[in-house]
Amino acid sequence: MIGKLNHVAMAVPDLAAAAALYRDTLGAKVSAPTEVPAHGVTVVFVELPNTKIELLHPLGDNSPIAPFLERSPAGGVHHVCFEVDDILAARDKLKAGGARVLGGGEPKTGAHGKPVLFLHPKDFCGTLIELEQA
Ligand code: CO
Repeated sequence: MIGKLNHVAMAVPDLAAAAALYRDTLGAKVSAPTEVPAHGVTVVFVELPNTKIELLHPLGDNSPIAPFLERSPAGGVHHVCFEVDDILAARDKLKAGGARVLGGGEPKTGAHGKPVLFLHPKDFCGTLIELEQA
């Protein structure tokens, strides 16, 4: 069902420092920061030959990233995103198997303008999983 690894998202306490680390120390192509108010984040995209890293920093008062950074002040891997061909079919199959889909189960528009869903980390080895319709 899942296809390519679309991105790995990391919550970071200092977006400029994290962007500089990936650009200058690791030599990656790094975007300018983009605010995504609907998801409560500011994102820097790190382009790799085979996937992307997204550096996430809280935006606004109810950012889903803020509690993560309270628990892990140095930052860390927040979620991984896999591509699927049909997000509704994927959701229905997962729910039928007992997996919990966050936020009521209706796809939202993600940071790339495509439909996304998130799966409960307790059902997936402790890692928050995002599915994006490719
Ligand atoms: Co993501």
